[in-house]
Amino acid sequence: MKILMVCLGNICRSPLAEGILKHKAAAAGLNWVIESAGTNGYHIGEAPHKLSQKVATLNGINICEQRARQFVAADLEAYDKLYAMADDVIADMKRIAGSKWNESKVHLLLNELNPGSNESVPDPWYGTEPGYHDVYKLINEACEFIIEKYSPMPDKKV
Ligand code: 4NP
Repeated sequence: MKILMVCLGNICRSPLAEGILKHKAAAAGLNWVIESAGTNGYHIGEAPHKLSQKVATLNGINICEQRARQFVAADLEAYDKLYAMADDVIADMKRIAGSKWNESKVHLLLNELNPGSNESVPDPWYGTEPGYHDVYKLINEACEFIIEKYSPMPDKKV
């Protein structure tokens, strides 16, 4: 399975989502490819935000080697599932994807946690450290569900 985590800048939320799901997939013995991208391209080539790195490290996950890249239309073909952190991210993805848009592959991450709720992971970019901890918790819970939902039998935990 190839999964792409997508937010706006690819420096706060989606690097955490990439790091958390990679960590859980490895722990579950799943040979998944998990990457991340941002729709706005303002931070291409940058490492994750210091506070995203900090909360990841506090939870035993190293994301400091990640580098931001911009979401491109071809990502719709290259990945099996694309998880958007928020509804404004989906709107951007649609615009960038153009004719390559494939509704069936794109999901709001938190709909894995609360199906049909259409909730967004709040953007911590303009806030302070507690916001990054809140974001970590939400993404972590959603990633736990993804592992349980898509783990092949007989390793499936649910
Ligand atoms: P992210 O947060 O989408 O979670 O990476 C943001 C980071 C930077 C900007 C917006 C959101 N920005 O506009 O620069």
